[in-house]
Formats: sequence, C-alpha cells, structure tokens
Amino acid sequence: SVEAVIFDLDGVITDTAAYHYEAWKELGESIGIAIDEEFNEQLKGVSRMESLERLLRHGNRQDDFTEQEKEKLATRKNEQYKRLIKRVTPDDILPGIKQLLVDIRQDGIKIGMASASKNAFEVVGSLKIAEYFDYIVDSSTVSKGKPDPEIFLKAAEALQVPSSRCIGVEDAEAGIEAIQGAGMFAVGVGKPQLLGKADYLVENTSLLSWPEIKKRYHHS
Ligand code: BG6
Ligand code: MG
Repeated sequence: SVEAVIFDLDGVITDTAAYHYEAWKELGESIGIAIDEEFNEQLKGVSRMESLERLLRHGNRQDDFTEQEKEKLATRKNEQYKRLIKRVTPDDILPGIKQLLVDIRQDGIKIGMASASKNAFEVVGSLKIAEYFDYIVDSSTVSKGKPDPEIFLKAAEALQVPSSRCIGVEDAEAGIEAIQGAGMFAVGVGKPQLLGKADYLVENTSLLSWPEIKKRYHHS
C-alpha cells in the first residue's frame, strides 16, 4: 500500500509557476525573444539553465551567447523571480492543498518534496508549510533534472520508501515523466492535452482529495 506522497512545488502547492513565466518573459523580451503560455509549458519543471537553453533555441539565438553571458542571463531571470516571490504568503497556498497535506499526515503517510527550484526552501518558508514535509530534496544536489527520475528517486530514498509505494504530484509534463520513470504513481494537475499520460489527472488543485487519490492508486 501507499507509504509516501512526493509533491512538486511550483504550480502544485502554490502558483509560483506564474512568476517563473513572468520572469522568463521579461528576460526573453530584453533579448528580443517573445514567449507565450504555450511555449512556457516546455519550461515548466525544467531547471534554470535548461530553461534558458530552451528559450534561446526558441528565439534561434542558441549560438549568440558565451557560457559566461548565459550565466548572467540566468542570474538576471533569477533576480527578477526572487523579487516576485517576496510577496508570497500563506494565503498563496493553492485551494485544497492544505487539507490534502493534513489528510495525508493523519493517515500516517510520509510527505516529500521534489522541486527543481533552488528557491524551494524560501518559498516553503514563506508559505509556512515546512512542518508538513518529512523531506525536501535540495535541488542543487540533483545532477539530472526532470524529466529524469533522479529527483523523485532521491526523495523516496531519503523517506526510506520503495518507489512502488510512492505517489508523485506534478503540474508539468517533464514532471509526470520523471514520476513514472521512477516507477511511481503519477497524479497530474492540469489539462488533459498536456498531462494526458498521468495515472490520475485533475484540472486544478481544489479537486485533489486524499481518499480519491488513494483509491486510484490501489486500483492501479
Ligand atoms: C521548477 C519550475 O520548479 O523549478 C521551473 O517549474 C524552474 O519553472 C525550476 O525553472 C528551477 O527553478 P529555480 O528557482 O532554481 O530557477
Ligand atoms: Mg511545477
């Protein structure tokens, strides 16, 4: 039976995915690359440097910058993102998430976090939800980003739960792939056109219920 639930952060627990988008959009504009929400789906869940590579390729500017210049661009995006997350408060926890964390805990199930973001600890602190998590992966220790399963495997290992007894929750296509690659049951939050591969999909977080997720896991 299920022993752990491992959450993504941005776009699942809080809507910081919108801030990542805003910051990339602004950086893109400063170097003549326009992005829209559709393209942004390819950045969700993906590490900072890989996101930059994808942005540059999107604007056909992948050969225009040295490694050092790319580092500077990524830093600029992060500085903007950090400005935006200064406004994050516990009111920004997405609907249904607090109840979900409480219900999972009450069931005696472990909770982990597998976020690609190096800002995850800060956001968790601002949301005041650190107490719910038994383990939060430090993404700076992860060598292969999502869609590679490494980050979810790391979380499971730290929680001392076999993958087959873990459930992962994600809003990104790369994240669903990472969960399934780790051999876990994937709960998706988002549109079926994007997250159709999820083992169980809901359109938004208010539709996440622990009894329902557990049922789907057991029937899988
Ligand atoms: C993921 C986001 O959680 O973290 C991505 O979905 C982001 O959009 C990635 O690029 C890395 O985040 P950061 O904060 O380390 O740049
Ligand atoms: Mg996400």
